[in-house]
Amino acid sequence: MYNQKVLEAFAHPQNVGEIENPDGDGTVGNATCGDIMRITLRIVDDVIVDAKFQTFGCAAAIATSSTATQMVIGMTVDEALKLTNARVVEELEGLPPQKIHCSVLAEEAIKKAIENYRAKKANKPVDNGPIEYV
Ligand code: FES
Repeated sequence: MYNQKVLEAFAHPQNVGEIENPDGDGTVGNATCGDIMRITLRIVDDVIVDAKFQTFGCAAAIATSSTATQMVIGMTVDEALKLTNARVVEELEGLPPQKIHCSVLAEEAIKKAIENYRAKKANKPVDNGPIEYV
């Protein structure tokens, strides 16, 4: 079902965990299956210098979280906002069609973490409401 690259990312995920006192913090849920992903970011001068994830989800969700966090480290927040799930899937050389929805979590969690970063920076109320299902 999964290609070698996805299996490798699932078996040896990178950037697992959480950043203490993160600059950006985003949690989203997958409306299709109920799985949840949290991404925390360390951001210096609008550049993502570290990213970590916690995913309660399937192999595709874990592989895409690992790959997406690796991809955004070194990007500016504007660049990271343009990262799509399709680009992450391409980096993994494909996912089975029925698992594409799993890759949306990483894209949305990164967006939510950046929104959270921008809200904190602008001293706006930070969204600590219920998990948003995408
Ligand atoms: Fe839930 Fe993959 S089945 S994220």
